[in-house]
Amino acid sequence: MTRLFSTRRRRGLAAFALLALGACQTMTSEPVAHTESASAPPHGPVLIATWPFGQQATDLALQVMQAGGSALDGIEQGIGLIESLGCDGTVGLAGRPNAAGYAQLDACIMNGPDHNAGSVAALEGIVHPISAARRVMEHSPHVMLVGEGARWFALQHGLESVDVSELPEKKQAFASQQTTPPDGEVGHDTIGLLILDAQGDLAGGASTSGAGGKWPGRVGDSPILGSGLYVDNEVGAAAGTGLGENIMRYAATTLIVERMRAGLDPQSACEEVIHHIAARDPRGYDLSICFIAIDKSGRVGAACSNDEFPYAVTTPAGSEVRKVSAVQPR
Ligand code: GLY
Repeated sequence: MTRLFSTRRRRGLAAFALLALGACQTMTSEPVAHTESASAPPHGPVLIATWPFGQQATDLALQVMQAGGSALDGIEQGIGLIESLGCDGTVGLAGRPNAAGYAQLDACIMNGPDHNAGSVAALEGIVHPISAARRVMEHSPHVMLVGEGARWFALQHGLESVDVSELPEKKQAFASQQTTPPDGEVGHDTIGLLILDAQGDLAGGASTSGAGGKWPGRVGDSPILGSGLYVDNEVGAAAGTGLGENIMRYAATTLIVERMRAGLDPQSACEEVIHHIAARDPRGYDLSICFIAIDKSGRVGAACSNDEFPYAVTTPAGSEVRKVSAVQPR
């Protein structure tokens, strides 16, 4: 925590400069290694996000909240920034295209106090899927909209869009190939952002273009409540990143939150769920999945199945990129 405080100003300034340049943050300095949940929970909002570019989301979300916005505003704007920047080629319309050559986007948002949620999947030509997900939550009687209906809904709500008139041609060309697309396992990072606000309430969001080369119509874990994102305002919240097929078959973020309910800290809960999945999955630990989590007292944690995993943590006292090593197989 000391390092977090001491590096705050430099990192904060660097983040603002990157925002001004409109660039995605990569690993500019060695992240802080973390193997345990943060000790004393800090005062005020606590924000955690996946990947180094997540720090741009956490920093902006904190600014939004400090300016009077809600945690949901922070989620929408923080993730919206990453969608605009197309960070890591796996978020937003600049994300990796599917096997037919165009982006289909997934996003989800969840609010702790009323346990409400909104989600969109296989969304085409909408710049901010996270905003569409929030509109679904706040302005529809439903939780999840997909494909054409999701796009229509987003347009009805005035969300920024791009021309998709070339998509029917791409779909036709793809369909006429009559071949099975290759496995879509190229790049599947996700921006997941979790916030504990100053009132002690939780919110979360996720957004991704999904795995590059995925089959058209493929939906990953990110828009599936309880898989890519879950928030329980009594307990905590968790988000996933990585190969969605290996997250959604286990309802992994629900498992993490339930581990926290049973008494585990966020770090242990993330690790335990990776062990739980590895013990059941034919792939063992070769899962390409990572998680972040936060509990009601502001403790955070993260774990990854088979690689290092950098993630961002921001509080009013400071902002840093941390990393965890892959869990040790049991
Ligand atoms: N985790 C993102 C995806 O698999 O689509």
